[in-house]
Amino acid sequence: MSTILKKCSLEDLLKLQEISYETFTETFKDQNSPENLSAYLERAYNLKQLEKELSNISSQFFFVYFNDEVAGYLKVNTNDAQSEEMGDESLEVERIYIRSKFQKHGLGKYLLNKAIEIAMERNKKKIWLGVWEKNENAMAFYKKMGFVQTGAHSFYMGDDEQTDIIMTKTLI
Ligand SMILES: CC(C)(COP(=O)(O)OP(=O)(O)OC[C@H]1O[C@@H](n2cnc3c(N)ncnc32)[C@H](O)[C@@H]1OP(=O)(O)O)[C@@H](O)C(=O)NCCC(=O)NCCS
Repeated sequence: MSTILKKCSLEDLLKLQEISYETFTETFKDQNSPENLSAYLERAYNLKQLEKELSNISSQFFFVYFNDEVAGYLKVNTNDAQSEEMGDESLEVERIYIRSKFQKHGLGKYLLNKAIEIAMERNKKKIWLGVWEKNENAMAFYKKMGFVQTGAHSFYMGDDEQTDIIMTKTLI
């Protein structure tokens, strides 16, 4: 049994699109219309968009492998790659997704700790993220990991305006 972390490069584009589609769909399909889900997937995870994000020097993607299978991925942003203006002392966890069959085995914590490690190395003062108010599983996970609610912002799933809770962890 082994857990391996790999930083993604442009060569991982197709693999990134595949896991992005799969994990987003399995997380949100039960609470959203197929039309809104498809609209979001096409807008957020088309190859051109993902290629742009992989090429942005202020963003980093990582795959976590469990026994040679991609079990999940992480995307972190700093500086102006952050989806809100949080300033240069913050790091955003924009995406953290573990495929359902690998959940609850410590891999989410492993990826989040990687994000915290990057933030500390870069002398960031806080780490933050947006989570859909109806995603109770993820919110419970973030609370367990020491995040607290600090705000909210809008998020569009297709044409459905939803509320994302902003959660923050202060780093010492
Ligand atoms: C949220 C997610 C990343 C958590 O990853 P995970 O691998 O399942 O969680 P872990 O096994 O690493 O759990 C880490 C800790 O959080 C706790 N935890 C995880 N989910 C929890 C929950 N729903 N309620 C309470 N505690 C929870 C675990 O018990 C564990 O505690 P421990 O350190 O004392 O053992 C994962 O479930 C996931 O990818 N969900 C679907 C996608 C998603 O919602 N992503 C976030 C979008 S904002």
